[in-house]
Amino acid sequence: MKLIEIENLNLEIDGEKLLKNINLSIESGEIVALAGESGSGKTLTTKFILGILPERSIVKYDKFEKPCKIGAVFQNAFTSLNPTVKIGSQLKKIYEGHYGKSKEWKERVLHILKKVGIKDSEIVLSKYPFETSGGEKQRIVIAGALIGNPQLLIADEVTTALDLKTKKEVIDLFKNIQAKTGISILFISHDLDAIRGFANRVYVTYKGEIVEENSCEEIFKHQTHPYVQKLMGLSQKLWVRGE
Ligand SMILES: Nc1ncnc2c1ncn2[C@@H]1O[C@H](COP(=O)(O)OP(=O)(O)OP(=O)(O)O)[C@@H](O)[C@H]1O
Ligand SMILES: [Mg+2]
Repeated sequence: MKLIEIENLNLEIDGEKLLKNINLSIESGEIVALAGESGSGKTLTTKFILGILPERSIVKYDKFEKPCKIGAVFQNAFTSLNPTVKIGSQLKKIYEGHYGKSKEWKERVLHILKKVGIKDSEIVLSKYPFETSGGEKQRIVIAGALIGNPQLLIADEVTTALDLKTKKEVIDLFKNIQAKTGISILFISHDLDAIRGFANRVYVTYKGEIVEENSCEEIFKHQTHPYVQKLMGLSQKLWVRGE
């Protein structure tokens, strides 16, 4: 079953064509990566899916279907948490946004925190964000996105600001959540090493267009678009040198 289906999406803001003929689909249970250089339209594509584009956007498409609940974690996950409010209150509010006020909130939130690998989750609820580590904050933000029980999780540059060890932990967490729940993931990143061995399928954006699409295995072996060849070539060299 397709959770997302977009055909011929075009987006213009202030006279500038920012997305051109985007075709993108996500199957149930699939991990799909959206790769491409900075400013190539990855976040705008996800904002379109979530319905949060700026009001002045001019959007045209032939088809757009999203018969599913979506959770999202954005670039700079740390700023998604309010520094002046305890974590428990923030997660309770997200719960209430989905299900309304209920005493059950705590049970659900503790269950999700456990799922994302937060130890001592009761204690974490009474902490302010600054009292947790970077890795914990990332897990808490992911927990927030999972509270509403989405079938699709969109993760936009969630590993960008992390050191190598924490990056691996976060990728492993996504793999683990996917394996346990069967959730689909749209993983947006310009970091090819984060995508390799994680995504099932990869789309590459370049100047507002999708210029290459293939299974993860194939796309690293051969590419048709010169930009993608360059991108992958660079990645292979770094990969071989182990950097
Ligand atoms: N609200 C906006 N108003 C006008 N232009 C915008 C807006 N948001 C993004 N853009 C422009 O659209 C283009 C694509 O931006 P987008 O945020 O989708 O890039 P990206 O691929 O996510 O890049 P990055 O890897 O840096 O996050 C850029 O040229 C950007 O300047
Ligand atoms: Mg972006």
